[in-house]
Amino acid sequence: MDIIQSNREFMKSQFGKVGRAVSDQARGLPYPPLQKALDNAAQRIKLPKPDSAVLNCNELDACLRKRRSRRNFSKDALAQAELAYLLWATQGVQEVVDDGYCTLRPAPSAGARHPFETYLAVNRVERLKPGVYRYLPLTHELVLEFAEHNTAAKLTEACLGQSFVGTAPVAFIWTCIPYRCEWRYVTLAHKVMLIDAGHLCQNLYLAAEAMGCGTCGIGAYDQEAMDALIHVDGEDEYVVYLAPVGKLA
Ligand SMILES: Cc1cc2nc3c(=O)[nH]c(=O)nc-3n(C[C@H](O)[C@H](O)[C@H](O)COP(=O)(O)O)c2cc1C
Repeated sequence: MDIIQSNREFMKSQFGKVGRAVSDQARGLPYPPLQKALDNAAQRIKLPKPDSAVLNCNELDACLRKRRSRRNFSKDALAQAELAYLLWATQGVQEVVDDGYCTLRPAPSAGARHPFETYLAVNRVERLKPGVYRYLPLTHELVLEFAEHNTAAKLTEACLGQSFVGTAPVAFIWTCIPYRCEWRYVTLAHKVMLIDAGHLCQNLYLAAEAMGCGTCGIGAYDQEAMDALIHVDGEDEYVVYLAPVGKLA
């Protein structure tokens, strides 16, 4: 089968066929952690509570009508309250179900598996030094993964020269931890994880638009370079999507 044909088949993965492979869930294996583990020495940063006061347009219809992919951002820094709201709108946790079986969040996810981690390449956010951070959705905090000053150049290169990504105030970089979804959906997991990624980026589009910011989904990037940029292994965790955010120029 050539690659196009096999990719078409992958898009047709069906729930009915999952039964052929017994899932780890059905075998009684424990559910995977809801969030990637944290180094005890990690520097955690409490984020402001998500507050709709950061929105200057709170009407869904208006946000839908003006939503566009934005590639021109002003030089202004993003406020921490704005960043906090965007993180919550995409991946914030509203409820932990059954002591850690799954979480409910503003974006939907097949089986509520929420297989993503959110990394931020920060250039200009108030009170955050430039570097790569990770969102901790269970406690609404950030953890500094590492400080770095040339992330912008590396990010542009990893996005095949798309400089508006590297120079944006912040770029959301979503990885998936595939086992979080494979534990339940086995061979169907990979299709639904990509569908899920679209949902969370759409929440980012609409929330950004509502606060006078903008974003642009980015699918054109070099996989190995992007995984290396945020220091993930590319096997059990890898980048699936990213989106720069800034105030509109
Ligand atoms: C999955 C996906 C990947 C995309 N990748 C890129 C990209 O790498 N670079 C870019 O400039 N725009 C990218 N876009 C934005 C599209 O080009 C944009 O949505 C399209 O031109 C329609 O414009 P609109 O979003 O303003 O309606 C991507 C959009 C999606 C949904």
